[in-house]
Formats: sequence, structure tokens, C-alpha cells
Amino acid sequence: MQVRTALIPAAGFGTRFLPATKAVPKELLPIIDTPALQLIIDEAIGAGIDHVVIVTSRAKPAIEAYFQPAPDVIAKLRDSGRDEMADRLERIGVDVRISFAYQEQALGLGHAVGCGREAVGDVPFAVLLPDELMGDSSLLDQMARVCERTGGGVVGVKPVPWDEVDRYGVIDPSGEIDADGVVPVRTMVEKPPVDAAPSNMILIGRYVLTPDVFDRIAEVRPGAVGEIQLTDALQAQAAAGPFHAVVSKVDRYDTGNPLGWLTAVIELALKDARIGAPLRTWLTTRDLLASGSPG
Ligand code: G1P
Repeated sequence: MQVRTALIPAAGFGTRFLPATKAVPKELLPIIDTPALQLIIDEAIGAGIDHVVIVTSRAKPAIEAYFQPAPDVIAKLRDSGRDEMADRLERIGVDVRISFAYQEQALGLGHAVGCGREAVGDVPFAVLLPDELMGDSSLLDQMARVCERTGGGVVGVKPVPWDEVDRYGVIDPSGEIDADGVVPVRTMVEKPPVDAAPSNMILIGRYVLTPDVFDRIAEVRPGAVGEIQLTDALQAQAAAGPFHAVVSKVDRYDTGNPLGWLTAVIELALKDARIGAPLRTWLTTRDLLASGSPG
């Protein structure tokens, strides 16, 4: 069955971005001029998704506001000849159906995904963690095809230095990585100590899952850091049937903390057709890294 639905967990408090996130959800912080959430949705659309379920919190009304029609702003833009931006605003939430589900208590990623059960329905679906930005849709697209072919769950992974594995979910591969970067998975473990980690291949926030995961989530007890972990539900799935990982080849930006967000913005801005060149000139002429500069 084709993967047409995606779930984006976006109910977190964004404590690492306080005080900004007191009023602005971290998923709406701009990457240049576009909310991170929009870039995640664009990635999903590029992989064939046409229904996005956003699991949010009623304490973050700005997320829903972002998808409301904005006829007055659009009319003003058209009056002043800014049709390109007017077209962009008009398309928000149009090329894809957006549904909302609510997570009222921060009980963990597994719990957040479980809150989307009714909105997702009985179909395979992608999960995209909005803290991780990908350079393009190719990884998710490949993962969807692997799920369609194998009938089992698929996770996106990437090797990292061993001393970083304890911050992530880690897979235990049960075979070789094939020419397309696909590898069978025996099991996976959330935030293992380095000396107990089964590999240095970490989960990078992209999943394509079969709907039986919702029953698994319902059975999961609080695990690492006292939360209901998605990784623990996937462990049960991998024990019961085929489960694969795809090793990512795309650029990945961790925008979940201020430094990661800032470096993502700088890297992407340097590649931007409009502001890349002037930004490069400014960075060069200001000579910010020269001795004597602050820091
Ligand atoms: C979550 C997942 C973890 C994954 C990580 C990727 O962890 O639980 O398996 O490796 O996202 O960003 P969190 O960042 O919520 O601690």
C-alpha cells in the first residue's frame, strides 16, 4: 500500500529556545524566511505525501493559525504587485491536507505518535521529527518505497562518532548494508550507554511505519528518561516481522537547539540564491573570526 500520510509531532514546549518559545512555537522559528514546519511538510510532499497529521498542543495556537487562510494579507500583496509571495501564501496547506491531533501531556515521542492514531487511520504512515531538517525528500521517498516493498517498518539512520550514540536511538543491524543503503534491523535501543550500543547507526527522526505500531505504543511502559519511547514500540515491531533501516545520504541539520538552528540557517542562507552572495560578502569583509573579534 502506498505511503500517503505523514505525522509530525509538534507538541513540545521548546524549552531550549526559551524565552522565544514562550510565544512562538519552535516549529515556526524561521529558516531564513520559512517556518521549519513548512520545510518539513515540503519534504513530505516531495516523497508523495498528501495528508499531514500535526500532533500539537492547545497551548500552541500559532501552529493552527499558520494554516488559516489570509485573504487580507494576500489582497495587500497583490495590490502592491507582490504576486509571487501572494501565490506562496495561498498554497499553504492547499497542496496537502492538514489535520490536527492533540497531545496534552508531554509523555514522550511514542505517546505523541499514539495521539495521532485516529487522524492517521489504518494506513502506513511517515513520521518526521521537526527538529531534524533534511536537504531534500530523497531519504523519505526511498524509505516509503522500502516499506511498500517489504510491508514492514523503516527508519532513517546515519553513522555518528561513537561518543554521540547515547543521545539517540541506535539500531542493531542483522545483515549487510546493500548497494542502496538498505539494511535489515534486528532491534533498536533508545539512548544506550556507549559501551552497550549495538552500533553507531542512529535514528535521525525519519520513520515509515505500519499502523500496527499504534497497538505496540499502547503496550509500551515508560523507558529511557521516563518517557513512552517510540523506539521501544519499534523494538516490538522488529521482533515480530521485517524491519529495515535506510542509511541517509542527504544533508541533515539538527535545529533542535539554538546553535544547531543557527548553523543550519547560516549554511542554508549561504546556498540561497537571493541572500547567499551578500551574506558571504558580509562574513568576509567583517572578518568575524579574526583575532580581536568577540569570542
Ligand atoms: C528522538 C528519538 C531518538 C532519535 C532522535 C533523533 O530523541 O527518541 O530515537 O534518535 O529523536 O533526533 P529526542 O531528540 O527526542 O531525545
